[in-house]
Amino acid sequence: MHKVFITRKIPDIAIKMLKSKYSVRINKEDRQLTKKQIIKRAKNIDAILSLLSDRIDKEVMAAAKGLKVIANYAVGYDNIDINEAKKRGIIVTNTPGVLTETTADLAWALLFATARRIVEGDKFIRESRFDGWEPTLLLGYDIYGKVLGVIGTGRIGTAFAMRSKGFNMKVLYYDKKRNPIVEKECKGKQVTMNRLLKESDYISVHIPLNKETYHLIGDKEIECMKKTVILINTSRGAIIDEMALADALRKNVIAGAGLDVYEREPSITRKLLNLGNVVLTPHIGSASYETRAKMAVMAAQSIIDVLEGKIPKNIVNK
Ligand code: GLV
Ligand code: GLV
Repeated sequence: MHKVFITRKIPDIAIKMLKSKYSVRINKEDRQLTKKQIIKRAKNIDAILSLLSDRIDKEVMAAAKGLKVIANYAVGYDNIDINEAKKRGIIVTNTPGVLTETTADLAWALLFATARRIVEGDKFIRESRFDGWEPTLLLGYDIYGKVLGVIGTGRIGTAFAMRSKGFNMKVLYYDKKRNPIVEKECKGKQVTMNRLLKESDYISVHIPLNKETYHLIGDKEIECMKKTVILINTSRGAIIDEMALADALRKNVIAGAGLDVYEREPSITRKLLNLGNVVLTPHIGSASYETRAKMAVMAAQSIIDVLEGKIPKNIVNK
């Protein structure tokens, strides 16, 4: 019987799918495993269902001798050495598509919350500081009619841009490829990175993390932005130089940021914690009941496909 290792409890539906066919080992403690613990538990397994926070590198693959498939419970897979997997003939899969709309929703939630100071307002009420309507209490920025800059118009970036239609925004996008959907549906204009940085009132990042995109946004890029810009990141933390961003926010070089992802998760640049003009969420882009269940089924199905000799739909290292 094939052996499957699930590194942390995921929705039951997927565990049932795998248990009906294979011998399944799960990390029952519902906490993040260290790499050492993963290596220890990965001996002689055929499949691993991993989280984006599990580093699956050469060492892990070397320990898991018969490993055939790594099914990452995420769309991003920067946590996996996919070239090493390819060398070893291990198939790596992800969970694209099912989390697109959910993640685009969260990017907007951060945009609204930051622009209209929702979190500060909530805190204000709870601290019993609300003494009645005031002409200049918690002023924020308009969203309607503004310029929206979308960095990366893959599935999520496109879904994010589509949502701007209700707000009559001017959409600028940066991508290597032209995006006919964004151009047709949102009247989006493909521009250079420099122009997007200079002209946008809101900038949202929707690209994967890799060598080319590491610190794509640093001091120099932040300098180009409007003083009133709000920056949103729901992709991967290390695409933005977090220290540079924290400094810029502290010095009001830019107006605000809504962040769901961080450079060194789970730790966060301390300076960010003391700033009122940022809204921070704990990497919950895909965290809806519906989507997490769909991701779990997709990851489980990828494992079943590989172990039954079929080709799974979402291979990332073909
Ligand atoms: C979440 O960040 C994912 O990549 O699915
Ligand atoms: C990821 O799902 C993307 O293409 O944005």
